[in-house]
Amino acid sequence: MSNNREQWGTRLGFILAASGSAVGIGNIWKFPYIAGENGGAAFTIVYLACIMIVGLSILVAEFVIGRKTLLSPVGAFEKIAPGTNWKYVGFLGVASAFVILSFYGVVGGWILKYITVSIVGGFDSFASDTSASGALFNEFITSAYSPLFYQLIFMGLCVFVIIRGVKGGIEKWSKIMMPLIVVLLGVLAIRGMTLDGGMKGVSFLFNPRFGDLSASAIVLALGHSFFTVSLGMGTMITYGSYLKKDQNLLSSALWVIFLDTAIAMLAGVAIFTTVFALGADPASGPGLIFVILPSVFPEIAGGTIWSSIFFFLLFMAALTSAISILEVVTAYFIDQKGWSRKKSTLIFGSVITIVGCFCSLSLGGGINIIGIFGEDFFLGGTFFDVMDNLSGKYMLPIGGMLTALFVINKMGMKDYIKELSVGSDNQNINPSIIKGFLIVAAVVVAFIIFNEFYALLSGKALVG
Ligand code: PFF
Repeated sequence: MSNNREQWGTRLGFILAASGSAVGIGNIWKFPYIAGENGGAAFTIVYLACIMIVGLSILVAEFVIGRKTLLSPVGAFEKIAPGTNWKYVGFLGVASAFVILSFYGVVGGWILKYITVSIVGGFDSFASDTSASGALFNEFITSAYSPLFYQLIFMGLCVFVIIRGVKGGIEKWSKIMMPLIVVLLGVLAIRGMTLDGGMKGVSFLFNPRFGDLSASAIVLALGHSFFTVSLGMGTMITYGSYLKKDQNLLSSALWVIFLDTAIAMLAGVAIFTTVFALGADPASGPGLIFVILPSVFPEIAGGTIWSSIFFFLLFMAALTSAISILEVVTAYFIDQKGWSRKKSTLIFGSVITIVGCFCSLSLGGGINIIGIFGEDFFLGGTFFDVMDNLSGKYMLPIGGMLTALFVINKMGMKDYIKELSVGSDNQNINPSIIKGFLIVAAVVVAFIIFNEFYALLSGKALVG
C-alpha cells in the first residue's frame, strides 16, 4: 500500500500545504479580535508561548507519526500500537474532520457571498453604518437557501482540489494560494498603516495591556493554538504521511508555526489599522469581519477593491484549510478501506456538505436539529454552535493530548527520536527536552479539558 503512496513534490510544496492548513479563518477572523479584546501584545505573548510549547510539540509529533507509518491517523495509530485502543484516537480525528468541516464549509460559503457583494459595490451604502451591514449579515445567514447555495460552491471547490490528489491538487493549489495570501495581506496592511490614524491600530495590537489579560484569555490562547495550527485531529499526521524521508521535520514544523503566526499578525495589522483609521469599534467580536469591515471599507478611496481583495484572500485561506480537513476523511477511506480517491472524496465531501446544510439551517433557516434538546443545550443553542464548540473545546484538545500521551507512553522516545532524526543532518536532538515539552503539552491540555468539563457540570469554570 505504502509503495505507491502519493507524495509531496517538493519541500516547499509540503510546507506551503501544511501552513495552508494552519492559516485559515482562525487566523484572519479569530486571532485579531481575540487579541484585540484580551490585551493586545499581552495576549500575543501568551499565545506565542502556547504555540511554541504546546503547538510545536504536538505538530512535530503528528509529522513524526505520519511519516513513520506512511498512513493516515487510524492506520497510523494501529500500525505503531497494533491491537490496542489507540486507533480510536485516529477515529476521533476522522470524526473531528466531519464536525469541523460541516460548519467551516458554511463560513466558507459566507465568504464567497461577501466576495460577490463586494465586487459589485454592495458595501457602498454601508459607509459608517454598521446597522445596515449588520442587517445584511443577519438576513443572509438566517435565510434558508442562499447560504446553502454558497456553501455548496465552497464544498464543491474543496472536492475539486482533493480529487486531484496530493501533488496535483493540494500541493499545486497551496503553492498558488499561499504566496497570494501573503502578498495581498501585505498590501492591505501597508494600505492600512498609511491611512490617517492607522498606526493607532498597530499600537492596539502590539502595545501590551496586561490589565486586559484575564485567566480566561490564557485558556482561550491555548484552545486557539490547537485550532489555528490544525492539531488534534490527524491533519498533520495525514500530511506527514506524504513526506519523503529526506525532510527535516523540526524545521518544517517551525516554518509552519512561523507562517501561521506571522499571517495572523499581518491580518491583525491589516484589519485594525483600517478599523482605527475610521474610528470604528475594534472589539466587536466575530462581527468584526462581516459587519464592521463592510462598513469601513467604503470610506476609504478604492474601498471596493480593498474589500474584494480582503474577502478573496480570506476565501483562499479558508479553502486551503478546508481541503486539509477533507483530506483526513478521504485518506482514511483510501488507506483503510481501499477506496479510490475519487469515490471517497465524492461520497464524503457530499456527506459533510449535507451535515453542513443542517448547521446553516440551524441559524434561522427553520431546521435546528439540536432544538429537540431545548434552547440551552450545553454546547450551544444551534447545531452550528454545537459543532463549533464540540470540536474546538473538546475534540481537538482531547485528540492533541492523546497524541502526546501516545508518543510518551506507547511509541516510546527512542522510536520517536529515531524518526525525528531522519532527514535532520545530525542535529543534536535531546530526548529529555523533547519529552519534557510533550509532558508539559499533555498536562496543560489536560487541565484545559478538565476546566471545560468542570464548567459544563458546575456551570462555572475553574479558570475563565
Ligand atoms: N487551522 C484552521 C484555521 O485556523 O482556520 C482550521 C483547521 C484546519 C482546524 C484544519 C483543524 C484542521 F484540521
